[in-house]
Amino acid sequence: MRPAPFALERYFARYEFSAPYLLSSSDCDGLRMREALAMADDECRALWEDLALGYTESLGLPQLRAEIAGVYDGVSPDDVLTGAPEELIFLAMNALLRPGDRVVCTYPGYQSLYEIARAVGCVVDLWEPREEGAWRFDPADLAGMLRPGTRLVVVNFPHNPTGALPTKAEADAIFEAAASVGARVFSDEMYRLLENDPADRLPAACERVPDALALSGMSKVFGMAGVRIGWLVTRDAGALQSIAELKDYTTICSSAPSEVLALIGLRARAALVERHRARIARNLAALEAFVARHGERFALAPPRAGSVCLLRLRDGNATDFCRRLVDKAGIMLLPSSVFRFGDDHVRIGLGRENMPDVLARLEDALAAV
Ligand SMILES: Cc1ncc(COP(=O)(O)O)c(C=O)c1O
Repeated sequence: MRPAPFALERYFARYEFSAPYLLSSSDCDGLRMREALAMADDECRALWEDLALGYTESLGLPQLRAEIAGVYDGVSPDDVLTGAPEELIFLAMNALLRPGDRVVCTYPGYQSLYEIARAVGCVVDLWEPREEGAWRFDPADLAGMLRPGTRLVVVNFPHNPTGALPTKAEADAIFEAAASVGARVFSDEMYRLLENDPADRLPAACERVPDALALSGMSKVFGMAGVRIGWLVTRDAGALQSIAELKDYTTICSSAPSEVLALIGLRARAALVERHRARIARNLAALEAFVARHGERFALAPPRAGSVCLLRLRDGNATDFCRRLVDKAGIMLLPSSVFRFGDDHVRIGLGRENMPDVLARLEDALAAV
């Protein structure tokens, strides 16, 4: 199998480490090592200091799997497989899908969520949102796309890049629609816990349905993308085993230091989540004030959750706008054309500490771009 190039990763590779000002990053700032180690409890500090830099357990460090299970209701450490989030998407799609299977996936989105299924030989239908005040994925649209042979429904809520989050009733309707055709749900929950209002938080897919899979990880919510640790959780032991068996052909096991760092971060999750939610709220307020000042050029369907949103350029041409902005002001923005989703929007990242400063630079540069 040979998936099409990952357009967003190629775009980031071009600018992420050369443009001085990033305004489209989806993660929260990477935690400094000093701070991460200072958060460690006694057990984690001992694990860190005595760590043997050998291979680790393929399913994941037992203490880490137990900590992950503790994030969810009704799951056990046996229901958890760790790996890099992107790797786990690759493994799950390869393990669960066969050529000719039908898949429905939220769109626009993180490309591997639909591209790997395509590369396996599946027929992939794309479920798009409506931009009505806020971005909204209508469960009735999903229901209209499902067929008796649909094998997998892939959803990503909170959604990258729109910040859409279904209501509880809409989420119920999504799972009922999938169940009505016997489709399994793969739920990418990389941004879960970052709801603007925690009362809007949805149950994780693995809590809801025994054969559903929930994907999460350290990258976005916890500011630890560099540890490359994520997890799949499902109560379907057979599915988890078939995914784990494929991992023998990718990384075999995770990096030993990364597992301990992830454990430290997860044990400190209450503080990290609150810090990041507060930062996102502050940054969203700054963005809304910016849009209010420049309503003739921009419009915002505000996100309900997560650390990204899509800003509309009233006169389109997002690709050109982004090119001029990075050339003239060193500010990197991601145009929606990279998602193959028209050319009217740019993604704004809300998880970075310097976001208001970069937004001020964008404002200064507006007359020139
Ligand atoms: C929705 C979504 N899923 C999965 C991933 C992959 O996460 P990671 O880069 O930590 O592998 C990302 C990263 O941007 C994402 O936005």
